Amino acid sequence: TAGTGLHTPILDWYAANARDLPWRAPDAGPWGILVSEIMLQQTPVARVLPVWRDWMARWPTPAALAAEPPGEAVRHWGRLGYPRRALNLHACARAITAEHGGRVPAGHDELRALPGVGEYTAAAVASFAFGARHAVLDTNVRRVLARAVRGEEFPPKATTAIERRLAESLIPPVDAPRWAVAVMELGALVCTARTPRCAGCPIAAGCAWRLAGQPAYDGPERRG
Ligand code: ADE
Repeated sequence: TAGTGLHTPILDWYAANARDLPWRAPDAGPWGILVSEIMLQQTPVARVLPVWRDWMARWPTPAALAAEPPGEAVRHWGRLGYPRRALNLHACARAITAEHGGRVPAGHDELRALPGVGEYTAAAVASFAFGARHAVLDTNVRRVLARAVRGEEFPPKATTAIERRLAESLIPPVDAPRWAVAVMELGALVCTARTPRCAGCPIAAGCAWRLAGQPAYDGPERRG
């Protein structure tokens, strides 16, 4: 498969450089992972950290949150922004309690049916919490693959079937969740949108975008 040579350098880089984030700890559990992914949708890690810790201490299970009125979720959302996400998370807690026996469901389709859970979040939770082999295509992953494999500065505005097939073809036979979070971390820390740190990149030597002379993006209009 094209791109198989990416696995070892990226996984080795991740082992040496990963941030120690509490939702990546083995004891975070599916609920902690779901809460983190919804909080991280539009908010940087540094701002999410204290709110996630407070939230998980207060409501360690979906049932604990489901027992509260929705306003409590909004009140403890802090300054994360987009407070509709607090209401969605509260509605998730109630749906998980009512329909899934209080346990975050493992299946992608059941996750996708929860309030506020889109394609990315369903794939992320299925992968990180349950080890499923789904392509986890967040903005960081999409940018890394656009550059390293497709030779373009940025991915298109909306995720395409081509990107999805590429990401699926790259999922390694073992440790799919670790691969997903490693590529995400590379995009967050090294292959950043502006001024990427190519000198510290484990795949710079084979990066299609770099080999092409880092041409500026000239595809369809996009955000960010
Ligand atoms: N680890 C797992 N998912 C993450 C995310 N969305 N942002 C940062 N770190 C993560």
